[in-house]
Amino acid sequence: MSERERTFVMVKPDGVQRGLIGEIVSRFEDRGLKLVGGKFMRIDRDLAEEHYGEHADKPFFEGLVEFITSGPVFAMVWEGADATRQVRSMVGETDPAESPAGTIRGDLGLDLGRNVIHASDHEDPGSNEREIDLFFDDEELIDYDRVDEGWLY
Ligand code: PPS
Repeated sequence: MSERERTFVMVKPDGVQRGLIGEIVSRFEDRGLKLVGGKFMRIDRDLAEEHYGEHADKPFFEGLVEFITSGPVFAMVWEGADATRQVRSMVGETDPAESPAGTIRGDLGLDLGRNVIHASDHEDPGSNEREIDLFFDDEELIDYDRVDEGWLY
């Protein structure tokens, strides 16, 4: 069995405005992942520029920063076996039009900018821990056992 890990997920402003927080949380719960942190918050420009820093030279960078700071987001940390890869497969491709039905972006995303959700990149090792550290203090992450954990995991 793969190692348990934690990964960062965020419902973007379009997902919040469209009332999709509950639907998205449900999908991760149904998959068997464990919620260990959650925060309804606004992202300021400094945090946005740091979070998306690797894309600073891309043509879409300014629009991306404006979008992610345009309204509240719901930031989360989910834990489970191979969680980053699991979550990314549930999220789909960057472009909702290329995301298969059944994925979050394939079912709920509108377009490349408004793609409902951000998740740490499993192809960028350490991105999950970097993003968790950027958005959450240690004491905001809750260690607990779930009733199903003894035999499910
Ligand atoms: S890249 O170039 O492959 O590294 O970029 P990618 O990983 O696909 O996307 C990086 C983040 O930028 C968002 N994105 C965009 N936003 C607005 N407009 C355009 N054209 C655009 N292209 C990419 C994309 O959704 C990624 O954000 P996150 O939050 O990681 O999903």
